[in-house]
Amino acid sequence: MPDHTSVYKNKTEMYDDMISKQPNLLKVIEEITPINQLDVIDMGAGSGRLTTILAPRVKSILALDSSAEMLSIIDEKLKDAKNSNYITQVADHRSIPTENESADLVVAGWSICYLGSSNVENNVHNIEMVMSEIMRVLRSKGTVIIFETMGTGFETPNPPEFLKQYYSLLENKYGFSHKWIRTDYQFDTIKQADELTRFFFGDELADKVVKENLITLPECAGIWWLRKED
Ligand SMILES: C[S@@+](CC[C@H](N)C(=O)[O-])C[C@H]1O[C@@H](n2cnc3c(N)ncnc32)[C@H](O)[C@@H]1O
Repeated sequence: MPDHTSVYKNKTEMYDDMISKQPNLLKVIEEITPINQLDVIDMGAGSGRLTTILAPRVKSILALDSSAEMLSIIDEKLKDAKNSNYITQVADHRSIPTENESADLVVAGWSICYLGSSNVENNVHNIEMVMSEIMRVLRSKGTVIIFETMGTGFETPNPPEFLKQYYSLLENKYGFSHKWIRTDYQFDTIKQADELTRFFFGDELADKVVKENLITLPECAGIWWLRKED
């Protein structure tokens, strides 16, 4: 598997091209909570998959990420759209740079997994810190929605072994509700499918994409959400 820290520093445009081949998630978010005029925090906002669809509808959005290079893509996209209700800021999930009870909605797409993976030291403690920060910044009755992978190249959920403990903690320790959806990639050509899967997912998946001519590459995503009580 390629080094994703390097991807988020040096291959940001390619990452953004790759996720542009996946479905828009606005409806999925709105099925969980109304979004109009909310104050939102996007944790691990990356190149803005969630921030750019939420910004036109919400009151404010704070887009955080550990990679300044990823956030600069959001700045470029939202500058063109003349949005002025957002801020991007470099931050780690374990220390959210904002006040207590300042957000109505926290979203995090495919990002907390980097701290929650059982391949990472202190993963359980990391998740405790992240959950404590989310609950600190959420207002009463606010909602947190987390998206994570349930398997790329699979038509039904097949989560990686190293994320199962984190997913179980979300449901069994923190009380999140859960469902899954398909987030298939619809590439334009097999050459593009090869390039955009190889740099991120590595040779094994990209070789399968080419061999099986997977211009549509199936993927499953898990969604976990929780409403903060008083
Ligand atoms: C797979 S990308 C997801 C980006 C975006 N949320 C999306 O849905 O496309 C993961 C992002 O998480 C960021 N990230 C990884 N670890 C992080 C951490 N500990 N704190 C903040 N951001 C982190 C990476 O820099 C990267 O931009």
